[in-house]
Amino acid sequence: MNTIRLGDEAPNFTAQSTVGEVNFHSWLGNSWGILFSHPADYTPVCTTELGTVAKYKTEFDKRNVKVVALSVDGLESHHGWINDINETQNTAVNFPIIADEDKKVSALYDMIHPNSDDKMTVRSVFVIAPDKKVKLIITYPASTGRNFDELLRVIDSLQLTAYKKVATPANWENGEDCVILPSVSNEEAEKLFPKGFVEVKPYLRLTPQV
Ligand code: BEZ
Repeated sequence: MNTIRLGDEAPNFTAQSTVGEVNFHSWLGNSWGILFSHPADYTPVCTTELGTVAKYKTEFDKRNVKVVALSVDGLESHHGWINDINETQNTAVNFPIIADEDKKVSALYDMIHPNSDDKMTVRSVFVIAPDKKVKLIITYPASTGRNFDELLRVIDSLQLTAYKKVATPANWENGEDCVILPSVSNEEAEKLFPKGFVEVKPYLRLTPQV
């Protein structure tokens, strides 16, 4: 088992996918990335998930995010299933699906949880920053389809932290006030946030989203 924690470098791998061989780090380039696993091809929840991800392409593009899916089924199965996803979800799958038949990538990312099912990957999600550091890890059970709006929300928050030195409060939605990082002094905050900020407490300072 390989434990990956936030801040670790995302393990690199080379694998077969529906768009050919992918070297993960080279494929990511300078983009943010989402690597997500699903339990198996030709399953109902996964079919809706992959269709949804295909429809969100413009949202991922806006945020400079590349998406890659994975299951332990083979390439032939993936290609047949893509036809079903496109037909039933009224979309065109526009991202690679890794065929991890030897479970090499699943093991590297600890995507198989044997006490849940020793043959299938669970619904793991990894968000990776352009420096290849892991920024988010979420694990869902096989029976719960993921909320991709939540994933976009977290990516917006991660990018605000990376580029604008703010954090986001509970239940934050895009456009709402942000929290100034504790590492930013009031003097620096005055320069960084021209719309100003409200000091509710010295450790709780709110500023409009920039
Ligand atoms: C599904 O993708 O529909 C699914 C897979 C495994 C267990 C339950 C649902």
